Amino acid sequence: MTHRAFISAVGHYVPERIVTNSELSKLMTTSDEWIQTRSGIKERRFAADHEAPSDLGVHAALNAAKQARTGLNDVDAIICASLSPEHYFPGTSSFIQSKLGLVGVPSFDLRAQCSGFIYGLSVANAMVTSGEFKKVLLIGVEVHSRGLDFTDRGRDCAVLFGDGAGAVIIESCPSPEHGFLKTKISADGRFADKLWVEFPTMKRTPIMTQSDLEAGGLHPKMDGKFVFKTAVEKLPQVIDSTLSSINLQTKDIDLFLFHQANLRINEFVAATMNLDKAKIPSNIEKYGNCSAASIPILLSEQMQLGTVKRGDLICIAGFGSGFTWGCSVIRWF
Ligand code: UT7
Repeated sequence: MTHRAFISAVGHYVPERIVTNSELSKLMTTSDEWIQTRSGIKERRFAADHEAPSDLGVHAALNAAKQARTGLNDVDAIICASLSPEHYFPGTSSFIQSKLGLVGVPSFDLRAQCSGFIYGLSVANAMVTSGEFKKVLLIGVEVHSRGLDFTDRGRDCAVLFGDGAGAVIIESCPSPEHGFLKTKISADGRFADKLWVEFPTMKRTPIMTQSDLEAGGLHPKMDGKFVFKTAVEKLPQVIDSTLSSINLQTKDIDLFLFHQANLRINEFVAATMNLDKAKIPSNIEKYGNCSAASIPILLSEQMQLGTVKRGDLICIAGFGSGFTWGCSVIRWF
């Protein structure tokens, strides 16, 4: 019988520099009170000048490697989930692969924004259970700070996002009862422009004009209310359908690891689904929204705190630009 895949190692890295809400309020018209009430965020981390996205990803991968019996030696595929790539092409995964010295190992980027890590779990799980790959390194990494508009025009997004990276190793589970029980991913591209960076664009020439630049087209644009409304509708749906497909209920879950986009979104989902708040840890107050890196950072911190135990049922869920969303249920090994 083919065993399920499981997460055998976890690590994360966040840059040292802490940026508080008050620091941002010196750059734009905002306040600690506004940011905290709307999002739960108190501070976030910004990468140092010398830190590239791949550097954050490498740190996270090396931290995960410390938990792995054979380190990164027998990793046979690398996936990097990110919406803030180091370059237009090739993907950040190429730079990570080279810095890790894993020359020859296939590496590619996965673009599913804040759902990137969950999409990555789905892909890595399929790669391992197919028997084609033995040990997949999945990294979620974001350096948002360099792409944000720190003027009043971009303040709705600028206060929400932070930099960081998380990494996991996925391989075949030694036990038939443990590992990934079910992962569901979904998308609705009709709303791609509700949260996006419009330029540069390959859909016309020139790919960016001076007026696009002046209009802030290089920075994220978001219809915040619409994103919020859709997230709190899709998350309960995907959690319910994933759990019911494996005959589980929310009360069976020991730990919910939700994407850290906004504390209010997660509180809304918890209230709608009548979830026990004690089972829903949060770190958005420290890091803001780190998109594809948020869930692995949260998982890694929970591992360090010792809240994740063998046999626990973990439910991971998230929603983001695209729109994309997903849920993964794991029996922890
Ligand atoms: O992975 C998905 C990532 N994105 C999200 O999850 C975001 C989801 N959306 C949200 O979290 C919320 O919509 C926000 C936190 C972004 C905004 O909260 P809101 O309650 O929807 O506020 P709003 O957009 O209706 O804005 C209220 C006011 C506006 O001023 P007026 O028009 O009422 O005068 C905004 O211009 O707040 C203003 N505003 C700000 N004020 C202070 C927008 N950004 C800021 C800011 N500081 N940073």
